[in-house]
Formats: sequence, C-alpha cells, structure tokens
Amino acid sequence: MKLHAVDLPLHKKLRKIPKTATSLTLVTILLSVIIISLYSPTSFFYNPTKLSESESSEDAQFKATKSPEILGGKSSIPRPTDQENCDLFIGEWVPNPEAPYYTNATCHRIQEHQNCMKYGRPDTGFLKWRWKPDGCELPVFDPDLFLEMVRGKSIAFVGDSVARNHMQSLMCLLSKVLDPVDVSTKNDGNQHWVYKDYDFNISIFSAPYLIKSERTDPNDVTRPFNLYLDEFDEDWTTKVEGYDYIIISAGQWFFRPTIFYENRTLIGCLACYRDNVTHLRMTFSYERAFRTALKGINSLTNFKGVTFLRTISPSHFEGASWDKGGDCVRTRPYKRNETVVEDYNLEMYKIQQQQLRIAQEDGSKRGLKFRLFDATHPMLLRPDGHPSKYGHWPNEKTANDCVHWCLPGPIDTWNDFLQEFIRREEANKSL
Ligand SMILES: *[C@@H]1O[C@H](CO)[C@@H](O)[C@H](O)[C@H]1NC(C)=O
Ligand SMILES: *[C@@H]1O[C@H](CO)[C@@H](O)[C@H](O)[C@H]1NC(C)=O
Ligand SMILES: *[C@@H]1O[C@H](CO)[C@@H](O)[C@H](O)[C@H]1NC(C)=O
Ligand SMILES: *[C@@H]1O[C@H](CO)[C@@H](O)[C@H](O)[C@H]1NC(C)=O
Ligand SMILES: *[C@@H]1O[C@H](CO)[C@@H](O)[C@H](O)[C@H]1NC(C)=O
Repeated sequence: MKLHAVDLPLHKKLRKIPKTATSLTLVTILLSVIIISLYSPTSFFYNPTKLSESESSEDAQFKATKSPEILGGKSSIPRPTDQENCDLFIGEWVPNPEAPYYTNATCHRIQEHQNCMKYGRPDTGFLKWRWKPDGCELPVFDPDLFLEMVRGKSIAFVGDSVARNHMQSLMCLLSKVLDPVDVSTKNDGNQHWVYKDYDFNISIFSAPYLIKSERTDPNDVTRPFNLYLDEFDEDWTTKVEGYDYIIISAGQWFFRPTIFYENRTLIGCLACYRDNVTHLRMTFSYERAFRTALKGINSLTNFKGVTFLRTISPSHFEGASWDKGGDCVRTRPYKRNETVVEDYNLEMYKIQQQQLRIAQEDGSKRGLKFRLFDATHPMLLRPDGHPSKYGHWPNEKTANDCVHWCLPGPIDTWNDFLQEFIRREEANKSL
C-alpha cells in the first residue's frame, strides 16, 4: 500500500537493517553525519553568537516583514485593525488550561504511532498550550465555525506522513461535530474523505518528494529513490485542479539516498555510493522539488484555489542522532530565546521562502495565490510535542520518534492557523 511509504524512514529502516546490511551501514554512517549536525544538541540551547548571526541575516529579513505595531512591542494593546496585519508566526506558546479539545477516546482517526497516550506517555502538560502571536490573538479552532467556512469546499494535502499527521489533527478537531465518510478507493495510495452535511471534502496525496519519483527497488523502501527533479508528480498534479485549498509540504525524505535526474539524464545523487556520479547535497533536490511542484500548480489551467506552503516542521533529537538513541524527552515548550532556526532547518526554510516567492510571482499573472504557512517558528519551540518512545510499545525495536507530533498535541495549532488563513481568504473574497 502506497500510503505506508509515507511513513518516514524511522520505522521502516530499523526493521530492514539485517537484509541490506552493507549498504545500510554506509547509509547509516552518512545519515548520522548529516543528522548529528542537524540535530546537534547544542543547537537547542541558547547561543548568543548564533542568535546574532542569524538575526543579521535571515531573521532580520523575517522581522522586516512585521508590521510596525508589532515592532513597537507588547505594550501597545492591539487594536482590532491590527488583526489582519499581524504576523501570526512571531509569538510564543502560552498556557491554555482548556486544551486538549479531543482525546483518543473521542477521535478515531489518530495514526497508531502518534497515539502517545495509548503507548503510555505519562505527562499531559504538553497538551496545555496555545500559540500567541505577538500583536494579536490566534483564535483556537472552532469546529462549527470551520465547517461553515468550508461548506461546499475542498482541501488537498500534498506531502508525507507529517502532512498526514496534520490532516488527522484536523479530522480529530472536527470529530466533535462530525466524522467524515472514507471514500478512498482501493489501489489508490491517496485518501479521500467527505463531510456529507457540509459538502466538504479532504484528500491527502501521498507525495513525500512532491515530484515524479520511483523506487530503484520496488520491494524495498530503504533503497535509493530516483527523483526526476524537473517532472511533475502526475499522481497529484492531475487531481488537485478542482480543490479550493492545497497545503503542500515536504521534509525528511530528502535526506535519504536519492538519485537525481533532469531532462531524464542522471546529474547526481545523494548518498548513492557510486564513484562516477556527482555527489550533491539534499538542498539541491529540495530546492528543485519545490520549484517543480509549485510550477506544477501554476500550470493547472482550471485551478482557482489558494496554495499554502507549510514550511519545515523541525525535529528535536537530542543527545544522539535518531538511529543512535537520540531522543526528545522535554515536557515543556522552549521560550523563544532558548533556540533559533539554524543549520539544515534554516537552509530548507530559506529554500521554501525563495520558491514560494517565485511561485507567487508566476501565480500573480493568473491571479493564483500562494501563501506562507510557517510551521517552522512555532514548532521549533515544541521539543515536548513528539511521540519519543510513546509511539510504539516498549518491546518494539523502533527509534524514538522526534519527527511526528502526538495527537492531541501542538500540531493541533496548525489548524488554528488554517482556520485563520481560510477566514482571511474568504473575507478577502467577499470584499
Ligand atoms: C487511549 O489512551 C488511554 C490512556 O490514556 C489508553 O489506555 C487507551 O488504550 C487509548 N485508547 C485508544 C482507543 O487508543
Ligand atoms: C473533492 O473535491 C474535489 C474538488 O472539487 C473534487 O475534485 C473531488 O472529486 C472531491 N472528492 C470527493 C471524494 O468528493
Ligand atoms: C533533453 O534531452 C534531449 C535528448 O535526450 C535533448 O535533445 C534536449 O536538448 C535536452 N533538453 C535540455 C533542455 O537540455
Ligand atoms: C557508473 O559506473 C557503473 C559501474 O560501476 C556503470 O554501470 C554506470 O553506467 C556508470 N554510470 C555513468 C553515468 O557513467
Ligand atoms: C529567556 O527569557 C525569559 C523571559 O521570557 C527569561 O526568564 C530567561 O532567563 C531567558 N533565557 C535566556 C537563556 O536568555
């Protein structure tokens, strides 16, 4: 089943190690190097040098987009007019005793590996926070309001298992009012749900690489993938044309062994262990994948929807790499001054920003909208929200999961964002 492949390497890889020991040893060594630098524990502590470095470059640019009201500081109580201009992504997590808004008893759509309470997670404090943007309020998700806003509409998620994680959070938040009917068809790796009373539907298109890709070994997901960097993944590009909203994202799969093609010609690879092939970084394929995927959306003649690019969702392995027992054991969010977006996260985030701008420019010629859905800044502060060892039973030999998010958990906030984004889009339309 294709959706299975949407699971990140985490669960798959460890089970398969005995089979392809040699190549996997190499892969593991390489991945460790990458991931150690990616998840170096020091990156999660306050480092004044790094903070000022990044402030001078990317963060400065980021801040420049903030409205003057916000730069003026918290002392000025936001007037109602600030709401629309407020940068929702700059803020902090604040206590919310009301949360969570569902449990594994009320929502049946929680993916096994994200059902942290089932697997015995003892603490519940991580559930009791909400995101507070500096200049305004981000309203918490209201299922009745949301369903009214999306009446007669459709949402397509395009991405990997973190996109699915997001979608399941949405379905859980809505489950208080209504459960969807599963209208997925067999032999289709994608999934489709309909909210009948509201004529609203949700689909997820499984596309961890966003572009045309194929396994080099059909039976082994741990073997390299061929990536056709300049070709659309018609598995989704041909199917999303009628949707009102597309939420597109991609992440960790780009660290895996991959072989790059352009114009059907082999141009390089990542971790493929072939001497005669140019070795390229993951950022090479990551950039091209977003460029091609967003171009794919811009090429759809009948598409009239809004596209949200959901930025990289940071993982939080500490102490070691993911395959060497690295873990995420914190039980509280970070304060904003305790960590910064850096290393691979920053590179990937920058690529997403760049490619979003290109797509916005292209799209503006046709009136197509591309919006930033910045999950990176809020989620960087949530090392406490991952399943860790509570994504499986203790006797299962599986790495700690510091990539996905527990349900319920901080990822529910993505739907607070989504609700606000859709409210803004619909308000703009009716002007
Ligand atoms: C829900 O979580 C509880 C622990 O809080 C666990 O005992 C139960 O098995 C879980 N139920 C389901 C359906 O996952
Ligand atoms: C959901 O909506 C989209 C866009 O209108 C449409 O293409 C698709 O067929 C719908 N899916 C279902 C299962 O109704
Ligand atoms: C793509 O490859 C074909 C031959 O395989 C060649 O004729 C064509 O010029 C190439 N296009 C580009 C843009 O490189
Ligand atoms: C690289 O070398 C392998 C044999 O080691 C050969 O099969 C392959 O065709 C070569 N590829 C290129 C692009 O030269
Ligand atoms: C971060 O800010 C908080 C106040 O919000 C302060 O108490 C704390 O000492 C600061 N931590 C660091 C590492 O600067």
